[in-house]
Amino acid sequence: MSGEDAPWWRSAVIYQIYPRSFQDSNGDGVGDLAGIEARLDHLVDLGVDALWISPIYPSPMADFGYDVADYCDVDPRFGSLADFDSLTAAAHARGLKLLLDFVPNHTSSEHPWFRASRSSRDDPKRDWYIWRDAAPDGGPPNNWISDFGGSAWEWDESTGQYYYHAFLKEQPDLNWRNPDVVAAMMDVLRFWFARGVDGFRIDVLWHMVKHPGFPDNPWNPDWVPAMGERDRVFQTHSTDQSEVHELAAAMRAIADEFGERVLIGEIYLPVPKLMTYYGSAAAPEVHLPFNFQLIGARWDAREIGRMIANYEGALPAGAWPNWVLGNHDQPRIATRVGEAQARVAAVLLLTLRGTPTLYYGDEIGMVDGIIPPDRVMDPRELREPGYGLGRDPERTPMQWDACAHAGFSTAEPWLPLGPDWQTRNVAAQAADDRSMLALHRQLLALRRAHMALAIGSWQALPAAGDVLAYERHHGDEAIVVALNLGDTPQPTALPGGETLLSIGGGLSGGMLGADAAVILKR
Ligand code: GLC
Repeated sequence: MSGEDAPWWRSAVIYQIYPRSFQDSNGDGVGDLAGIEARLDHLVDLGVDALWISPIYPSPMADFGYDVADYCDVDPRFGSLADFDSLTAAAHARGLKLLLDFVPNHTSSEHPWFRASRSSRDDPKRDWYIWRDAAPDGGPPNNWISDFGGSAWEWDESTGQYYYHAFLKEQPDLNWRNPDVVAAMMDVLRFWFARGVDGFRIDVLWHMVKHPGFPDNPWNPDWVPAMGERDRVFQTHSTDQSEVHELAAAMRAIADEFGERVLIGEIYLPVPKLMTYYGSAAAPEVHLPFNFQLIGARWDAREIGRMIANYEGALPAGAWPNWVLGNHDQPRIATRVGEAQARVAAVLLLTLRGTPTLYYGDEIGMVDGIIPPDRVMDPRELREPGYGLGRDPERTPMQWDACAHAGFSTAEPWLPLGPDWQTRNVAAQAADDRSMLALHRQLLALRRAHMALAIGSWQALPAAGDVLAYERHHGDEAIVVALNLGDTPQPTALPGGETLLSIGGGLSGGMLGADAAVILKR
């Protein structure tokens, strides 16, 4: 499928909202659903097609909603199911699709299922979670390590066994080898699809199934503490087991029952492994296994060029690519590459072939916040302080305007505002046609106006030094993109054409300016 009849999510741009930080409507310093609804016109003006909201379910918030205590309701901090229905209707009325976050790997330790499971070894829900006897020395069953540090096994005194948690001990892993768990969780998907949700981002999809024998993971010989405890071992046996593919295919079958819905898998794996999560023609899995390579890549034109070509070449037949520059777990792009290159990065994200996901605030170039020690909220930072592993900096409130609390709330926000909120905000940038916001609006308008950008093919063009160049084709339309990933002008030979967009001095006399990018129509 490569024509105008392509499913909506192929040409769509997705916008990720971290709900605690987007807009507070009730003055408690925490964002909520009514706040998101009140700001939908920002998304329309920006020109995105879909919003994905990080978890909104009832939760003790040990991991800020990624610890779910009820999959079929809304946490009162965020609102109610009625607020959710209202938001869905308001989004759909504006032509926006709405995606939720599905957190299948683990529940909250406060979920009724886990309370039952830990109540007794004979409880019918005992096997819904992963319980193991102690090792002969009384220690944990194996060397698996929590992503947030420490053993991934927690001793339960009253029933005399350990349970497994890939993340916090407040996030026990479900046992997806138990068919009752599968059935219950598939019903959760049906519940939200029936309510009108257009798709899901699936949290840590590759973690869902573990090796049945629970062997030790191999130790990482190159480990140093600054990597974080997680990387002491390779997660060979605790993640990416072949049986996970059956589960992904089962989720996909449910999505397909409801028509054109989309599943996006959160998967941090090397490209060849990532590709297996597309599934096969007979048993398709997720539509979009998140491609996080731009987050980890060194900001180097040659390296990124190779990475794009390699990814394009590795895609299975018919599979659709996708790109991400940032999310609620990663330092912001403007902090990683600086303000000038963040503009170049936006052009890259929004002109590559595939569905881009834009992280809230990146459209105004928000930088990582500075979190004083007494305001740290993220459990990862609290458990392994000082290595820069914490995720609060990229979760600071959206900067709407220069009024009190940046227009985010009438009260002190749950995290401090970013350092530059008084000057870097939506209101200021909306009035400046050279702003980062204006650039995003232009790029998104170009994607809508040009099928070559939305769904066209991708082909590298010859380039050297700091320049990355490629061409997008659809029908008889050809669009050339050239980016200077460095801060000095670079000689650049491009096929001529009409300039659709030019930043950072653009192309002149065969030189592409420092931090410049151009989009040309041939
Ligand atoms: C995913 C989420 C992250 C969360 C973790 C555990 O990686 O993106 O925020 O802490 O899963 O649910």
